[in-house]
Amino acid sequence: MKQYFEIDEWKVIEDGFDAHRNKIAESVFSLGNGRMGQRANFEEAYSGETLQGNYVAGVYYPDKTRVGWWKNGYPEYFAKVLNAANWIGIDVVIDGEQLDLAKCEVSNFRRELNMKEGYLLRTFNAKLNNGKEVKVESIRFCSMADDEAGAIKYTITPVNFSGEIKLTPFIDGDVVNKDSNYDEKFWDEVGKAIGADRAYVHQRTKKTGFEVVTGMHFSISQNGQPVQIQSNPIQHEKFVGCEVLLNAKQGEPVTLIKYAANLSSQNYKAEELVAKFKETITRVSAKGFDTMLKEQAEAWAGKWKHNDIIIEGDVAAQQAIRFNIFQLNQTYTGEDDRLNIGPKGFTGEKYGGSTYWDTEAYCVPFYLATADQKVTRNLLLYRYKQLGKAIDNAKLLGFKDGAALYPMVTMDGTECHNEWEITFEEIHRNGAIAFAIYNYVRYTGDEAYLADYGLEVLLGIARFWSQRITWSEDRQKYVMLGVTGPNEYENNINNNWYTNTLAVWCMKYALDVAGKVKAADASKYQALVGRINFDEAKESDRFKDVIAKMYYPYDEKQQVFLQQDGYLDKEQILVKDLPAADRPLVQKWSWDRILRSCFIKQADVLQGIYFFEDNYDIDTIKRNFDFYEPRTVHESSLSPCVHAILAAKLGDEKRAYEFYLRTSRLDLDDYNHDTEDGCHITSMAGTWMSVVEGFGGMRVRDGKLSFNPFLPEKWTSFSFNVGFRGTLLNVKVSKNGTEIKKLSGNGLTILIGGKEQSVN
Ligand code: BGC
Repeated sequence: MKQYFEIDEWKVIEDGFDAHRNKIAESVFSLGNGRMGQRANFEEAYSGETLQGNYVAGVYYPDKTRVGWWKNGYPEYFAKVLNAANWIGIDVVIDGEQLDLAKCEVSNFRRELNMKEGYLLRTFNAKLNNGKEVKVESIRFCSMADDEAGAIKYTITPVNFSGEIKLTPFIDGDVVNKDSNYDEKFWDEVGKAIGADRAYVHQRTKKTGFEVVTGMHFSISQNGQPVQIQSNPIQHEKFVGCEVLLNAKQGEPVTLIKYAANLSSQNYKAEELVAKFKETITRVSAKGFDTMLKEQAEAWAGKWKHNDIIIEGDVAAQQAIRFNIFQLNQTYTGEDDRLNIGPKGFTGEKYGGSTYWDTEAYCVPFYLATADQKVTRNLLLYRYKQLGKAIDNAKLLGFKDGAALYPMVTMDGTECHNEWEITFEEIHRNGAIAFAIYNYVRYTGDEAYLADYGLEVLLGIARFWSQRITWSEDRQKYVMLGVTGPNEYENNINNNWYTNTLAVWCMKYALDVAGKVKAADASKYQALVGRINFDEAKESDRFKDVIAKMYYPYDEKQQVFLQQDGYLDKEQILVKDLPAADRPLVQKWSWDRILRSCFIKQADVLQGIYFFEDNYDIDTIKRNFDFYEPRTVHESSLSPCVHAILAAKLGDEKRAYEFYLRTSRLDLDDYNHDTEDGCHITSMAGTWMSVVEGFGGMRVRDGKLSFNPFLPEKWTSFSFNVGFRGTLLNVKVSKNGTEIKKLSGNGLTILIGGKEQSVN
């Protein structure tokens, strides 16, 4: 799909209604505030193609695992974010006929996602089968200022008639997950209540016992005059609605303002939920819609101040980067260390809303530079708190002595993934978690984090690696057998270069941090090693031995790191020689053919070079890039950004820009034909990385921010704001060079093109 949505600097616009693209638009126009999220479903009834989605962050269901062949060590369940009660619903009946855009004539349809101020606007005219025509405008948002609340202003104007309009704002908890493994419903009703202008449903999730109260308060005005609400209560299981009959006059708007709140037992005692809901809904409705909308705009202005990227000379690129930043901010605000970032955020069910290594490898760099440091700290604490479960997970697989294997997919720390080649073998994720700690400390300078939390995680991870390797008598080296690297188009391989490299780095870093913590605060260090039974002499020796004797596959002839043992036995074909009809391989080829081919799903060796670039000279980086790039099909959205950053480093500006284009409009242009399932939220952080680390060449070097920018040919200039250790900087790259200004905080010494410069 090419540019279905209109191009605008601050908005995403859909002009005209295309029912076939409705699910794509529902994903793209999704709203969220970190605490709750919402696909862009219609308020009124819709019997056409739709994926209904209302999500409450952190409220999940452990859906019993469904596999053909059970393998020991598989998790019992896949935790998935739940489709929760629909709070946006407003049923509209006009002179006896229900408004349903699938069943009437629709004109002037328009949806606008206002990214600057954080709301969704929808307008349309509908001519019903009874000949009555109405004009509708709806504005809604998930409040950033009150993150348990959302609000809708729904205005309906009779165009060619005066007659009866029946409006029924409702809360519907009788929802299902499309991806439910056994077609189960995940919610039980606990209670409900309806008043004239207020109602709620109180529900509990099966098995996990989360309780959520979702409720509403509404007001109605006709032609600007408040209407005294008299409503008929409508209720059935998990459903409450207030039916209001109105005599509408031609040309006179009827406006319904619906305030909604979602409160969960994660944040309140279950028995207090209803009372807290009443407090919240009273408070937000007393503010009024306009005040809430104003606060919303202010909250977003605060976010944009910290993390906007301005691109001059290319509006499509401008829109795209803002869309990516907007969605990331809607998904995770960093207020709560129990929450994380699902690959689809709140825009769909795919990937279960669970946490993947995507967070540490891709999202952490984004939040480090664009938000307060506590945001990333909370992402790290999320894993810290799950360390016990990572240790249990490793135990389940036969590891011991405090070895920790973090899950590939999780909500609460328990592994949820159940494909053996990933669950048991895609263990590189453990390294990404250690790398994120390094990244955080390198960026923020918060060394105290290491003593308080980081070291414990690092030792658990290092212990895992030190047990996962095998001594090869033949090679007289340690080897790592039976793994899957980031490139999931290879399974059960030996000596994935990336995994071996990362494992050794983790052990080195753990030892380095242990040394630092011990030197800084010996008693704290002793308390920790005592608590986790870390036998310093014995275990450090083991780590050092593995570090010294690890095997890394390498091809002497081409002087490249080998993705794994035997990679060169594969027929070496390049992506450019693949017929277009064969792509994407994952859809067109059998799995066995994919596994036997040399094609690479996503950055693998290159992911390692990206993480550890300072360990390699530029020729080594170039040789590896030139070897692996032509074999990479980028069938994971996480891939092009790494290639963009490396191409930029190698001075290949044209290709850096090409890779960037593949990630930046991925969802806006439905590049992979899968946006209807939800947006690729975690790869959006990769888009940001392409601009800031790629085009901006931003790195942290010895505690200083360093830039090595270039301006993509198509652009007149680009600028971005980044926060670093309490200082907010604006970096502008234009044809006249690079200008760095301090927006707030203390002066800093930075590096541009390797040269020190003070910013005051
Ligand atoms: C990628 C993984 C990623 C997952 C979720 C997969 O397609 O190969 O690296 O963690 O998607 O984004």
